[in-house]
Amino acid sequence: MNLLQLAQQFGTPLYVYDAAEIRRRCRALRDAFAALKPHIHYSVKANSNRAILRLLHSEGVGFDIVSGGELARLQAAGIPTADVGFAGVGKTRAEMEAALRAGIGFFNVESEPELVRLADVAAGQGVVPRVLLRLNPDVDPHTHRHITTGRATNKFGLDFGTAASLCRAFADDRRLTIAGFHMHLGSQIQRVSPYVTAVEKVLPFIEARRAEGLAAAWLDIGGGFGVDYRGEGEFSLPELAAALDSRLRGRGLNLILEPGRWLVARAGVLLMTVQYVKRTPGKTFVVVDAGMHTFLRPALYEGWHKIWPVDRPETEGDLLLCDVVGPVCESTDFLARDRRLPPVREGDVLALFDAGAYGMVMASTYNSHPRPAEVLVEGETARLVRRRETYADLMALE
Ligand code: LLP
Repeated sequence: MNLLQLAQQFGTPLYVYDAAEIRRRCRALRDAFAALKPHIHYSVKANSNRAILRLLHSEGVGFDIVSGGELARLQAAGIPTADVGFAGVGKTRAEMEAALRAGIGFFNVESEPELVRLADVAAGQGVVPRVLLRLNPDVDPHTHRHITTGRATNKFGLDFGTAASLCRAFADDRRLTIAGFHMHLGSQIQRVSPYVTAVEKVLPFIEARRAEGLAAAWLDIGGGFGVDYRGEGEFSLPELAAALDSRLRGRGLNLILEPGRWLVARAGVLLMTVQYVKRTPGKTFVVVDAGMHTFLRPALYEGWHKIWPVDRPETEGDLLLCDVVGPVCESTDFLARDRRLPPVREGDVLALFDAGAYGMVMASTYNSHPRPAEVLVEGETARLVRRRETYADLMALE
């Protein structure tokens, strides 16, 4: 599909997703873990457009949600909600009620008061939820501090001592069933070793609970598998699968994986149009019609994404050293810093690559810029799966 034509047809800024790449990734993940037969729960937060959710559902994938809104999206997409896990530290009563009504598969519980609340809400509804306690294994995943979740100082999960007492306290509780354990170390993890360290901490804990009589049959190792944004090498799924296989074999534990980024990041590009090339004594700025409001990762995590004009070959003689920046009135509004691009001009369309995960879902209307449109390409057809917001949309709720 020609990206320039898509930019002309749908306007910019524009998110474009490639269905074939998402399907390929689903199959590659399944193949890598074939021996372990895991449940794959796609982490909806990475890209929650209903067209993407339906596509993943058609590949046989379940879902990891963190809010009532994500549940509502699955329901509105007509996706059955049995193979769904609900994570997150702040579930409200209303969210618990909706998830219980929807008959979701798992509640991943993160604290004692949350477990107490869930038991109470479930009793009120007369259903018995299956609970995985989220453990905080205190392992450093060696990723950006803003996307590290499995350290003792993070708000996520339960320390082992508290989790053990909860298992004992709720062992005979008829209002819910503790069916196993969950962990999630962080995101954009590049090495397999943090998973191995964490699993080696968690397995003896599980065996100790089983020795006390708990029938723990599930282990959810979370997501976090990194993608190769900068050409530094891809996270090795086969290595992770082999490491898990040798440690989980024969233990009677069903495995759950919760990847978000790995399934969708590389299937998306963000198209944007150059407005100005601004030269100052210190720097050259390529000002585009996208920015931190369209794609937040560079501003928030100094995330690095390849940017290139859509109609220029990969190698080009003279390159221009520049910052690619947006229109927002903040100095952190950049998409790339000190980047070499072919000389570009007003009107040129640039692509920001690997924008399929944590792109549109983190877009805002800051500075009253309407959010971009989204297009899903399947074979020869490009389908608008979310229209561009209008000024009327911006003000509709006021
Ligand atoms: N499971 C849980 C409980 C999570 O909190 C997350 C992500 C995932 C699974 C999926 O992680 P993934 O496989 O996508 O790494 N906005 C950040 C990433 C935040 C991830 C939050 N939790 C970014 O743009 O890098």
